[in-house]
Amino acid sequence: MTGLPSGVSRTAVLIAQAREGESARPSGLFRDPLARPLVEAAGRIDGVSEAGRRAADHFVLRTRYFDDRLTEAAAAGIRQVVLLAAGLDTRAFRLDWPEDLALFEVDLPDLVAFKEKVLADQGAQPRCARKAVAADLREDWPAALTEAGFDPERPTAWLIEGVLMYLAPEDGARVLERVGELSAPGSRLSAEHVNEAYLRQPAMKPAMNRLQATQAAWLSSVEDPVDWLAGFGWRAEVTHQADLARSLGRPVPPMADSSVVGAARIWLVTALS
Ligand SMILES: C[S@@+](CC[C@H](N)C(=O)[O-])C[C@H]1O[C@@H](n2cnc3c(N)ncnc32)[C@H](O)[C@@H]1O
Repeated sequence: MTGLPSGVSRTAVLIAQAREGESARPSGLFRDPLARPLVEAAGRIDGVSEAGRRAADHFVLRTRYFDDRLTEAAAAGIRQVVLLAAGLDTRAFRLDWPEDLALFEVDLPDLVAFKEKVLADQGAQPRCARKAVAADLREDWPAALTEAGFDPERPTAWLIEGVLMYLAPEDGARVLERVGELSAPGSRLSAEHVNEAYLRQPAMKPAMNRLQATQAAWLSSVEDPVDWLAGFGWRAEVTHQADLARSLGRPVPPMADSSVVGAARIWLVTALS
């Protein structure tokens, strides 16, 4: 098959692999039956490092965390969801959405073309009105989103998962500005970011080197996500990885339990406008 995800889009395969693995566990935190065909079509990523294996535990926790945030938004009456940098996410197919919910997935054109072909080959049927939008988050993605039917007058649940670190600081800030401009009152935002200590920890060095070598370097971090998001009009709350792991009955990831100021952090954030 041509058009396999490459460069930064290849990172989506690693996340789908984690979801595939979790789906095979009897006590899994979610089930994602489309993860396997997507991974197989993309080509499995082998030789994952120790840090990569630990990252997979995080991808599983964060998937469930954001599943819950999005279903809560729908239960609260929101009928428009936008997944920015959706990658190989299949929430449109596996979560129990209200029938009249519109869900938009934005990602780079090659990734979108690849994913749409695999989903069509699988005969996958979304459980809401799903639209894939091919656009670069560094460019005029709001135009593409609006053209696809997004309505800025309706409250929206936004998800920005696993991508802000790949954007330069000014590009990430511009994404947040635009999300703010497109958010009607009552909108919600869920997002993930990391702090600089996370980027710089020695255990991450091999993964960082590999990402850099595949044009997928991490370019940004944030030290205080609540303050950062307040600058874009959001009242945000952080959920700590350790608390999330405990609440889901999973082992606390090794780095997550440190209460040391300046320790490595992955920020899982939910915010109201
Ligand atoms: C680590 S994956 C995360 C995918 C998905 N959110 C998930 O958690 O499964 C990063 C995704 O960001 C997308 N991405 C990176 N830079 C982008 C950009 N400038 N515009 C749109 N998408 C981008 C990649 O194509 C890839 O699908």
